[in-house]
Amino acid sequence: MVFGKKRKKAVRGLEGVVAAETALSFVDGQNGKLYYCGYDIDELAGKVCYEEVVHLLWFGELPDQKQLEDFRSELIAEMRLPNQVDELIRLSPPNANPMVVLRTALSALGMYDPDGGKNSEGANLRKAKRVLAQMVTIVSSLYRIRTGQPIVSADKGMNVAANFLYMFNGRTPGKLDRSVFDSVLVLHADHGLAASTFAARATVSTLAGIHSAICAALASLKGPLHGGANTRVMEMIEEIGGKDRVKAYIDGMLASGERIMGFGHRMYKTEDPRSRHLRKYSEKLCRRAGLEHLFEISQRIEEQVRRLKGICPNVDFYSATVQEALGIPKEYFTCIFSMARTAGWIAHVMEQFRDNRLIRPTSNYIGGFDKRFIPLEKRK
Ligand code: COA
Repeated sequence: MVFGKKRKKAVRGLEGVVAAETALSFVDGQNGKLYYCGYDIDELAGKVCYEEVVHLLWFGELPDQKQLEDFRSELIAEMRLPNQVDELIRLSPPNANPMVVLRTALSALGMYDPDGGKNSEGANLRKAKRVLAQMVTIVSSLYRIRTGQPIVSADKGMNVAANFLYMFNGRTPGKLDRSVFDSVLVLHADHGLAASTFAARATVSTLAGIHSAICAALASLKGPLHGGANTRVMEMIEEIGGKDRVKAYIDGMLASGERIMGFGHRMYKTEDPRSRHLRKYSEKLCRRAGLEHLFEISQRIEEQVRRLKGICPNVDFYSATVQEALGIPKEYFTCIFSMARTAGWIAHVMEQFRDNRLIRPTSNYIGGFDKRFIPLEKRK
């Protein structure tokens, strides 16, 4: 064998492989902590708005009042789509997965962006603001179109979180909804080298642009082992239907080797700190919306999975009932995650651009050699 005994063993799932240096976020899986640019998210959640975290991740510091207002105005001003993309969303099949529409629309936006193929720092920042803002507009427009309601334009007087709820539901959100939704966005903003973030960095390392990188990230986030889990969590809760049925359902799933969506994590060996905040929000919002039963089912699921498998809920578990109680249909949950994570994806893309080297790992060839070529006409 040509490569002999010296070849390295491939690391399955790249577990523990360090593939980038980043100053953006740190997942302390042993202690159940998450830091954005040095700030513990327990310090940030509920105290800052999403734009502050976007500013932190993109520019390395929290904004002062004036910077925040300017940054917010710039983002809100970009919450509109070219007519062609609006039309593309209208023409999408009514049963297409919203994540597929989001990815397709974002890809199309790359064709109409005035900074198109430019990769200078200035062009990238302009594209970054547009992409982040337009994600909000794509998701809300899709929902409005599918529910036969007129599209709602962004309101300059609201922040990003409130604008999304306003553009999605068509009414000004109440105080609790806006503050919880803002926290949801903050908690999902970045998370080290998650699969989608790695996909974004690998894509941009070829010097493909921001739109390509975000499309790659969206494609990765869609899967149920990543952001797609939140929709599956809601499906599971609905399928269970009542708290008395939780035990039998979970026992049956685990006995047949199925995974429970919204549980487990590659990095966390203890509780995911984001789920602590989301559990609290879920309880509050479910109670207010008369959906206590959904929270109770969730709690029972958590108890049973912890008891039988010793694994904890991740960010996707309680975010499902939070979003449900905010009136967001479950097929849009992963789109919300995408909107929030765009902050982190773009920050990583910019970080990669600043010190780029092509990401090109290697593989062990385990196929054969010495095969004899047979011309097509002689193959059987
Ligand atoms: N339900 C049941 N068992 C689970 C589990 C889950 N959600 N997550 C992990 N496990 C078990 C595995 O079966 C495995 O058990 P074993 O060692 O007895 O075979 C062990 O925990 C390790 O799992 P592994 O697949 O090696 O972990 P990973 O780091 O590769 O996977 C996830 C991480 C997130 C993909 C995994 O936990 C999962 O599939 N979770 C459900 C999907 C989800 O919620 N995704 C969102 C993540 S934020």
